[in-house]
Amino acid sequence: MFTMEHGVFSMNPFRKRTGIFPSYFTGRDDELNELREIYESTQAGAAGHIIIYGPKGIGKTCLLIKFEEELKGVDEVYPVRIPLIEGDFDEIYTLIIDKAAETLKIGEGNFWDDITSLGVNIPLAGGFTVSRKRPTTSPSVALERILKSIYNKLTGENPVLILLFDDLQRIIPNKGTNKVLNILQNALVELNLKGMNVMFVATGAHDIFSQIQDHLDSAVRIFEPYELKPLSKNEVNDAIFIPADNEGVKFAEEVIDSIYKMSEGIPYYMQVLAYNCFAEAVDGKVGVNELKKSFPRSLDLLAQREFRGMYEKSTNEERNILGLMAENPKEILSYKEIKEGLKLKSEPSFWLRAMVNKNLIIKKSRGKYCLRDRLFKEYLRTFKPYRENGTY
Ligand SMILES: Nc1ncnc2c1ncn2[C@@H]1O[C@H](COP(=O)(O)OP(=O)(O)OP(=O)(O)O)[C@@H](O)[C@H]1O
Ligand SMILES: [Mg+2]
Repeated sequence: MFTMEHGVFSMNPFRKRTGIFPSYFTGRDDELNELREIYESTQAGAAGHIIIYGPKGIGKTCLLIKFEEELKGVDEVYPVRIPLIEGDFDEIYTLIIDKAAETLKIGEGNFWDDITSLGVNIPLAGGFTVSRKRPTTSPSVALERILKSIYNKLTGENPVLILLFDDLQRIIPNKGTNKVLNILQNALVELNLKGMNVMFVATGAHDIFSQIQDHLDSAVRIFEPYELKPLSKNEVNDAIFIPADNEGVKFAEEVIDSIYKMSEGIPYYMQVLAYNCFAEAVDGKVGVNELKKSFPRSLDLLAQREFRGMYEKSTNEERNILGLMAENPKEILSYKEIKEGLKLKSEPSFWLRAMVNKNLIIKKSRGKYCLRDRLFKEYLRTFKPYRENGTY
C-alpha cells in the first residue's frame, strides 16, 4: 500500500477492487445530470425510476455512491443506498427496513411498531423476530406498505425518498426478472399515485433486460434503462494523472494512453493497471518500463479474480470458440470464420448466443463477434487455458 518516494511515504491512490470509491472520481456528468433531472421531476410530483446497467467494473456502485454524496445536505431529500445481497426476493423487505432505519435514523419510537403491525411477516434485525409465516399480502402490497411507513417518517413539506438499489440481479431468480420488476413497479406506482415522492434507482448486470424479450413490456414500463458506458480518454487521463500527481508521482503520457487502450475505459481495469504501475514508480515517475514490469501482475490479479472463473463457466464447445477467437489476430470474427475455423459440421449459433448471454463475447453486428474485452483476450492468449484439454 505504501511506497517510499523521496523519503516520504506516499499512498497508492488507486483501487484494486470494485465496490470501493476512487480517490478521484472522473466523468459521469451525463449520468449525474440524468439522475438529477429524475430527482427534480420526482420532487415536482412526476416520479421517475431508472435502472443503470453494465458489465462488471463499469462503475455502477461508485455512480450510486457519488449521487448519494451529492444529495447529502440537500433539504428534504432522503437517499437510502441498499447493497443487495444474494438471496430471494423476501429478503428485500428486511434489507430495506434495516437500511432505511439506519440511514434515516428512524429506528426509534413507533417505527418498529408500524412495521410489525403491517401484517407482513418479516424477520427483523435488531432483536425482533417476527414469526416467518407465509405472508398474508402479495409481495407488492407488502413492499408498498413498508415503503409507506418509511416515507411517513420523513420530515418536511414535500420530502423525496430515493431508493438506491445496488446489484438488482442478485435478488432476481433465474428467469424471474419480469416478476421482480413487476412487483417493484406495482408498489412504486401505488405510492406515487398516493402522492408519495419515491424515486427508484437500481443498478444491474449487463443482461438485466435481456431476459425480457420486449423492452416495452408493461412489467418494465416505468423503468428507464440506462446503459453505463466506458470512460472517455480524457476522463481516464484525469482519473490517473490527478490522483497520482497528488501523491507526487507523475505518469508519462504514453503510459496513460496504453492504460486507456488496454482497459478500454473500463474503470475497474484502469484502476488495477494504474495501481500496479504506481507501485513500480521510480523517482516519482511511471514510464513505459514500469508499465511493462507491472503488467503481468495486473493480468494475474484479473485472471485470478475474474477471467479464470469466466473461462471455467464455459462449456467445452464454448472453450473451443474462445480459443479460436483468442488466437486469431483479428478482433472481430464472422459467423462463417468461426464455423470454418473450428471445422464445425453443425451450426454454432446456439453456443454463440449462450456466450453472448454469459458476457464472454459481444455481438458487434449481425453475424460478427468479438471477445468481451481486450484484457480478457490478453488473458486467454497468455495463459492459453484451452490448451489444457488439448483442443486448441
Ligand atoms: N467515475 C470513476 N472514476 C474513477 N474511478 C472509478 C469511477 N467509477 C468507478 N471507479 C473505480 O472502478 C472500480 C469499479 O467501480 P464499481 O465498483 O463502481 O463498479 P461496478 O460496476 O459496481 O462493479 P461490480 O460489477 O463488481 O459491482 C472501482 O475500483 C472504482 O473505484
Ligand atoms: Mg458494484
